Amino acid sequence: MAAYDSIVVGAGAAGLYAAFHAGRRGRRVLVLEHNGEPGAKIVISGGGRCNFTNLHAAPERFLSANPHFARSALARHTQADVIALVRKHGVAFNEKTLGQLFCEGPRSSRKIVRLLLDECAAAGVEVRTGVRVNAVRRSERFTVETSAGVFESETLTIATGGLSIPKLGASGFAFDIAAQFGLPVVRLRPGLVPLTFAEGDLSWMRPLSGVSADIAARAGKATFREAALFTHRGLSGPAILQVSSYWTPGETVVLDWLPDAADDILAARKRERPKAQLKSVLSELLSERLAAALAERLPQGAVGDMKDAALIEAARMLKNFRLTPVGTEGYAKAEVTVGGVDTNALSQQTMQARAAPGLFFIGEAVDVTGWLGGYNFQWAWSSGWAAGQAI
Ligand code: FDA
Repeated sequence: MAAYDSIVVGAGAAGLYAAFHAGRRGRRVLVLEHNGEPGAKIVISGGGRCNFTNLHAAPERFLSANPHFARSALARHTQADVIALVRKHGVAFNEKTLGQLFCEGPRSSRKIVRLLLDECAAAGVEVRTGVRVNAVRRSERFTVETSAGVFESETLTIATGGLSIPKLGASGFAFDIAAQFGLPVVRLRPGLVPLTFAEGDLSWMRPLSGVSADIAARAGKATFREAALFTHRGLSGPAILQVSSYWTPGETVVLDWLPDAADDILAARKRERPKAQLKSVLSELLSERLAAALAERLPQGAVGDMKDAALIEAARMLKNFRLTPVGTEGYAKAEVTVGGVDTNALSQQTMQARAAPGLFFIGEAVDVTGWLGGYNFQWAWSSGWAAGQAI
């Protein structure tokens, strides 16, 4: 039986990051990955350019049943630390929008995987791929039975991520291990995912498939000002993905199609062009196809024939457009899993399970979910770093 100080299950962002930080401390570390290659999600992330962090990463931009849990790790290993590491490896990057840092060039996300593997190699970490974990047992030490033999270690770190994108290797392993050790799991659901709608709504949405608009979208108390995109099944685009993480089934989402305009915008346009049809006034504010679709729900005719009050009412409707999704496109399309191992069961300094000393959970498996825009990788790095100091 091969013996290690630390075994990490999952060679994704969090697992590799924790592994090389522990290796740098002189720990003998083994990483076990069931895919044939490490870092599958990193490779496809950010459209192949990996949005590896966000300049504005802060605890408020993460969802968790315990919003304070992420503070410690995010403060002790920040976006600046990650940027320094990326610079050290000479990986070129740039800021796209809203503080999002992306690697430069097609397929450049592979450079992040290379960086992680180089750091692991330099720290003496052993990474074994194509290995299935069959069972985990704990007495004095952890025993991990796998398709490649039995391994033993002092600490065991679960970095197997959430349920999103099963075809990339996602599994419920972390939650099975949590159950085995009696740790609670906050209800899991797909996040950063397109929303789907019933036939009644799709009849007007589907013809707009491919149309995008700069909107403000709200679910619960969260509002995001970004683009929305009509799809064959409903709505996607950054604004919608963001609110999807806050949306719960049965709830309404509120869209503002005119986020820069005041309620009197249409009444003001009436004074400039009284003969114009409401539809044409709208097409000055929105794309033509979207304006035509929305105008069908509003009074018809020339704006000059409409009372100011009616035009204000129409603008208010466009700024508080309520829709009730029937669901989401599910884990097959979700960028993340909301929920996860209950943070109340973990130490916020080290990510160690309070009730199971030596057992650690990091990354997406934990009930900490970031906004769209590099936040989820930042959590993987920060939580991986925190565990890396302790495992
Ligand atoms: P991650 O999923 O990266 O790694 C888990 C690893 O464990 C995988 O290699 C998996 O194969 C392995 N594993 C699972 N079960 C196992 C088992 N039973 N035995 C052994 N190994 C097992 N975020 C962001 O910040 N910026 C971005 O640009 C993007 N883009 C993006 C695009 C797409 C399409 C998706 C689906 C997701 C993103 N994300 C993102 C989210 C981001 O990819 C995600 O939050 C992190 O990869 C989570 O890191 P983890 O290390 O926790 O899990």
